[in-house]
Amino acid sequence: MSTQNESWGSRVGLVLAMAGNAVGLGNFLRFPVQAIQNGGGSFIIPYLICFLLMGIPLLFVEWSMGRFGGLSGNHSTPFILDTMGKKRIWKYIGVFGIFTNLAVAAYYCYIESWTLAYVWKSLTGVFSGQSSDAVSSMFSDYVSLGTAEPIVFWVICLLLNTWILSRGLSGGVEIAAKVGMPLLIFFGILLAIRGVTLKSGEAGAIFDGTEGLNFLWTPDFSTIWDFKVWLAAAGQIFFTLSVGMGSIQCYASYLSSRDDVALNAMSAGWMNEFVEVVLGAAVIIPISVGYLGIEKVVELTQTGGLGLGFRTLPFLFQQWGPILSVLAGVAWFGLLFFAGITSSLAMGTPVMGFLRDEFGWRRESSAFAFGALVFVLGAPTVMFFNHGVFDEYDYWAGTVSLVLFAMLEIIAFAWIFGIDNGWAEIKRGADMKVPIIFKYLIKYVTPVILIAVFMGSLLSEGGILDKIVNKDIKAQIAAATDPQIIADLSTQLNYVNGSRLLLVLVFVAIAVLVRVAQVKREKFGRIQPNA
Ligand code: ALA
Repeated sequence: MSTQNESWGSRVGLVLAMAGNAVGLGNFLRFPVQAIQNGGGSFIIPYLICFLLMGIPLLFVEWSMGRFGGLSGNHSTPFILDTMGKKRIWKYIGVFGIFTNLAVAAYYCYIESWTLAYVWKSLTGVFSGQSSDAVSSMFSDYVSLGTAEPIVFWVICLLLNTWILSRGLSGGVEIAAKVGMPLLIFFGILLAIRGVTLKSGEAGAIFDGTEGLNFLWTPDFSTIWDFKVWLAAAGQIFFTLSVGMGSIQCYASYLSSRDDVALNAMSAGWMNEFVEVVLGAAVIIPISVGYLGIEKVVELTQTGGLGLGFRTLPFLFQQWGPILSVLAGVAWFGLLFFAGITSSLAMGTPVMGFLRDEFGWRRESSAFAFGALVFVLGAPTVMFFNHGVFDEYDYWAGTVSLVLFAMLEIIAFAWIFGIDNGWAEIKRGADMKVPIIFKYLIKYVTPVILIAVFMGSLLSEGGILDKIVNKDIKAQIAAATDPQIIADLSTQLNYVNGSRLLLVLVFVAIAVLVRVAQVKREKFGRIQPNA
């Protein structure tokens, strides 16, 4: 029996909410940048292989393990994993599924708030008549907190997330997905049509929009053996599908025992891929390549991923005249906002599920707790954005944790719970015939690839071990001669170490709460349902 009287209102709502969880800023901002940085056509092949060999198997695993845990009233990964393996360690591995959501939400909601601010700026014509440098500097000023505007929009964004979450799954999250997803796709299609039909010589463009698409879609095997490209492709698949995070398991834990997981998982997963590789690729890349050319666009992505979306596109839209530029700005930042909020809502539910299951908190209080925690943990990314705090959160929570957790949970599913039990779970109530090949992929292939990806991330040049010892920053300090540069880099080192310490403390604090919850369960039994 579930300890929470929470459930999905309809299948359409569930699939849209799950697709909304997956479709996020990653589809429109991260994917194009990763594709450009990793050589366009040479990125797409590893990307699609990672989707087939890791993404789809992990979707099956996470959906079915979520439904399985939910049937015994568990809605967050520590106790979902606990239902699958007898050893206590699995509960603590499940801590990742709360930690990652909280730590990713901490920086993700900040970007989400930029999109809201930029919808407002587009509507009020702030970019009109400005030079490209002026539009770009507006973004630098914004993140340097020159005014109170970023804080105001950030708080609005957190309140909005908290309010929707406090209305529950069917009354809040599902409605947000039903409104947000169609609008996002509509805006995406409008901008994609504009991007691919852009002609050189028209409205100041120097290349056809299709030039950018050719760069992405012309297969290139020259870097097929470059491990870095594979790591980037795997990282993008995890981030975009939200696998290895803990949010899919939480959403699926509100399904009933005969609800389909196989077809629903495929519907949401493929919808995400459509939005990413068709729409996500057809906006930023064709428009920016059309105006700036491939070389310049590649150069711009080297200095950070977010620049193209916030520094460059608002200026390029101005070339389309006063009305179209406002519409394009609202469509672009509006779609980013809907993409972002439907994902950040999914990050809230595991935290809420844990507080409600284990401590009997009401829905409103647990939603408020999530908002407050994101505020506290997000504050350093807002205040010290320029000191690399944001990037640290993204690296440790948004990249490393996903791979590590995905690797451990698939081992738990296939080898501890057992592939026969797992396979029966995937097939139970399935409205599609799941190809038997996935049984073998889940048991052997996906875990082996995940272990290889993790080991590669650990040991490769610039990988996890190098990061831990701050090899890159220390080398820059050693090479610098200007005392000011040395002082700046040393300050950055302090911020970087400080952020990591904070993240470790958050992880430990969640683990302690899991321990407290376990002791409570042993002493007093399960908490009774709460509204
Ligand atoms: N899957 C979400 C995204 O792509 C987190 O942004």
